[in-house]
Amino acid sequence: MEARTRSDHIPHDLSDPLQQCRLRPVQIWHDPDGRHVVGCGDCCDVRFIESLVKSRSAPVLAIHDPPYNVAMFKRKPVSEYIESCLQWVANTEAVLGPDASMYIWMGADQKNHFQPLPQFLAMMAETTFASRSFITMRNQRGYGTQKNWMAVRQELLLYTKGKPDFLVQYTDIPRILRGYYKEIGGKQTENSERSHSDTIRAGNVWVDIQQVFYRMEENVEGCPAQKPLKATERIILASSHEGDTVVDFFSHSGTTLLACERTGRRCITCDIDPVFAEITIRRLEHYRKTGKTGWQRGHPFETKPSEPVQI
Ligand SMILES: C[S@@+](CC[C@H](N)C(=O)[O-])C[C@H]1O[C@@H](n2cnc3c(N)ncnc32)[C@H](O)[C@@H]1O
Repeated sequence: MEARTRSDHIPHDLSDPLQQCRLRPVQIWHDPDGRHVVGCGDCCDVRFIESLVKSRSAPVLAIHDPPYNVAMFKRKPVSEYIESCLQWVANTEAVLGPDASMYIWMGADQKNHFQPLPQFLAMMAETTFASRSFITMRNQRGYGTQKNWMAVRQELLLYTKGKPDFLVQYTDIPRILRGYYKEIGGKQTENSERSHSDTIRAGNVWVDIQQVFYRMEENVEGCPAQKPLKATERIILASSHEGDTVVDFFSHSGTTLLACERTGRRCITCDIDPVFAEITIRRLEHYRKTGKTGWQRGHPFETKPSEPVQI
């Protein structure tokens, strides 16, 4: 194994990436192909969100990955953190169509009473959303291995509004267990005859998804919180149809937008930080130009953005 740790910093030899950003706060970029929009702004700001979604069809799916209120990002008192969550959840409720799904990645700090997960769950119980699933994804890299159980979990909550469609998804894990018999139409059938796939169905524990690291093509240097495309595409395929609109208020490396591009959905996304909004646009342009999902060991700021730029 090569001795190189992942660098999550913009390289020093590049000039200030902020100078290279197309968007300033509350500005919105419209995809020249007419499919997606990327905004730079605060998702708690009602007017900014209204302008972001304006003249787009109502999303049937939201995928949000907010900062988890842990040390890596700026930590707020938990009540203040939940107050801001309540605002972006209300903004999501306002923009979603009548039958929609909302997935939220949420952290649980084991050194601090697992905050903010329990407070977030209690806050959601007071909203009009229905709780639907509590998924855990297993990371490969963890922490705390010597004095505690290795922390490898990522929590993903599913809430719904109305009655959205759900399409069963299958993993790449081969189905190997046999011998579960059931009588169907007077005939004794074995489970392998009855199944729809040679691989097992994705349940609410995902162990088959590789966490993003620097050797993967999809790696976006400078984006420490990047989620795997495979997880995001699984969500999109389960809870939307081709041509549907998907919204993500916390774009970062632009994973949701890229997953939408690859699966024929339309994406509305934003990030409060102009650098991450710019990376999101560049990741889409890079994919359209090269077919590559990220830069692996390269960098989003190593080339100039494609022209023409439309804001
Ligand atoms: C955990 S990362 C999202 C990772 C993303 N799912 C991906 O795969 O790249 C959270 C992002 O939310 C952004 N953010 C934090 N507060 C925000 C706010 N109030 N409005 C919009 N974006 C915000 C941060 O700048 C950061 O890029």
